[in-house]
This record gives sequence, structure tokens and C-alpha cells, in this order.
Amino acid sequence: MRIGVLTGGGDCPGLNAVIRAAVRKGVQYYGFEFVGFRDGWKGPLERMTKPLDVAAVRGILPRGGTILGSSRTNPLKVEGGIERIKENLAAEGVDALIAIGGEDTLGVATALGGHGVRVVGVPKTIDNDLNATDYTFGFDTAVHVATEAIDRLHTTAESHSRALIVEVMGRHAGWIALHSGLAGGANVILIPEVTFDIEEVCGWIESRFDRGYAPIVVVAEGAHPKDGQMEVQTGELDAFGHVRLGGIGERLAAEIERRTKKEARTTVLGHTQRGGTPSPFDRWLATRFGLHAIDAVHDQDWGKMVALRGTDIIRVPLADATATLKTVPMAMYEEAKVFFG
Ligand code: F6P
Repeated sequence: MRIGVLTGGGDCPGLNAVIRAAVRKGVQYYGFEFVGFRDGWKGPLERMTKPLDVAAVRGILPRGGTILGSSRTNPLKVEGGIERIKENLAAEGVDALIAIGGEDTLGVATALGGHGVRVVGVPKTIDNDLNATDYTFGFDTAVHVATEAIDRLHTTAESHSRALIVEVMGRHAGWIALHSGLAGGANVILIPEVTFDIEEVCGWIESRFDRGYAPIVVVAEGAHPKDGQMEVQTGELDAFGHVRLGGIGERLAAEIERRTKKEARTTVLGHTQRGGTPSPFDRWLATRFGLHAIDAVHDQDWGKMVALRGTDIIRVPLADATATLKTVPMAMYEEAKVFFG
């Protein structure tokens, strides 16, 4: 069999570990051949390929990013996109595809599956917002980056008696904010799932200062205040219709300064959370996903996605993977409030 592999959507640490594991097991155990498609769905759409064999995956386990490149190309928005992909897969002699991606990339994989393309999915995203899997790789690394930043910000916040705000990614889910905020001992954690009250936030900040400490606020990029409390930016949309988030940290700092008269500054961690070497947990998870994805191909178990359930890797229908977003449960957020203020 000849297997095509692609990585789509925002990159994340661990993508190369999946590619390596799938190729190694596919070649060594099953005698498969591989071809890489470049830049997400753009690859099969434009017939942009890259050789992929054991030599090509040597040394990539600890490397961040993706050797195949990525993009947010949505072939469902391109006229005749699905037919073009099917033609190009046939022209490349590709029998099956492994699509490594998040909600959007796997949504396209699901649609292609409905058109007879033999596809197996692998979930990835730093946002950890895919419902069918306990964790996605990339998340743990992002939480490490954010936690280290919070640890560092504590000491400088104390030196200058400032409120320091850390804006983290996560799109519409507060997982990165909650995990890094708890791990880093933040005094306020704001997540998209719960609209915040700026007066309450300022109360927590003032009480922290009153006790002689400087507050750290972790805010998820998708967090928003109660209607009308603060102006929130509306951004442009990508090919999948997602708004580009970011900017809440700056607006929060301005509002905190205005209301509390204390100096407030913002650090936006942005793409530092996605770049660089994957954590050991993410390498472990990504490697296991790669091994199990190639097993699914060998078993011809099409339309499935590999997923982590406890410590087991299972297979779930691709359609289930993208049906609903996994967001932070209210009870879990409430736990963190012990440390607010
Ligand atoms: O989905 C991963 C993610 O990093 C989100 O947390 C963030 O909102 C988005 O991608 C940023 O995308 P881009 O790199 O295209 O700006």
C-alpha cells in the first residue's frame, strides 16, 4: 500500500513524532510506502508532495513544527475541491490517507470519507478541545511554556508591585489557561467558558495587593467580559470561518489600571506556546498515535480517528471527533477559585 500523510491547521509540538512513528512501523512491519503532502489540504489539492521514507523521518522526534508544512486550506470551500483531491490521490497512487489535524482538518477528512476516500485521522491541537480524546499532543508543551512564563512573571511582578496579565491561546476552550494558571499559582484565571465580571476581577486584584503581593492574571485569548463591560475586538475570519483571537490581555490591563489605579502590564505568549521541542508526554502520546494510526490503516479501518482514553489508544468514528468541542466543565473551573484574589 502507498499511504499519503498530511498535517493541517495550526502546527503543534509532536506532529513530527506522529509522522516518524507511522512511517517507521508502516515500513518495518507492514512494508508500506509513503508520500508526504505539503501544507495541509493544499498538498492533495495542488498535488504538492514530499518524499517520505525512513531516512526522511530520522532525527525528527524532538523537533517542533512539521516537516510537511501546514496550512488552514479548506478544500470544501474550493469549487470541485473534493474531486481534485480524489484525482490527485489517484495520480500519486495513494491508497489511503493519514490526516493529522484538529477540528477543521479532521472535519475535511470526515467529508472526504463520505466521498469514498480511505482516511484515518490523528488528533492534534494545543487547545485540547477535541471531545473524543482525553488529551491531544501539543497541549502539554503549551502548558509547560505558559507555566514557565507565569513562574517568571511572579518575581518581576513582586519587584515592581504590578499586576501582570498573561494572555494564552486555546481558542474557545480554557484548558491552557486553567492548567497553566493552576500550575503557576495565578491569582485570577479567565476562560472563554465563563464570562467574567471586570469589577470582580478588580476586587481580586486589589485584595492580592492588600495582602502585600502582586497579582498574576491568566486570561485565555477567547475570554470575554459580561456584555457591555469592556469593548472586545472582532477580528477577521479564516477559511474555516474562525475569528482570529487575541488582544483581550491588553484591554484587560487598560481596564484594570483605569479602575484600580495600579500599574498593569500584559505578556502575550502567542506562538511561543506552539513552537519548539515537544514535552516528553507529547512525544509519548504523538508516537503512540502514529503507531496506532498505521495499525488502523493496516486493518483497513477507514473513517476512524485514534484517541486517548485513560492510558489506552482507541479508535473512534472521525465524525464523533469533530461533533462537539470539549470545553472546561464549570465544576473544574470552580475548583480553581480557591486561589483567586
Ligand atoms: O488552534 C490552535 C491555535 O494556536 C489557537 O489556540 C489559536 O487561536 C490559533 O491556533 C491561532 O492560529 P494562527 O496561528 O493561524 O494565528
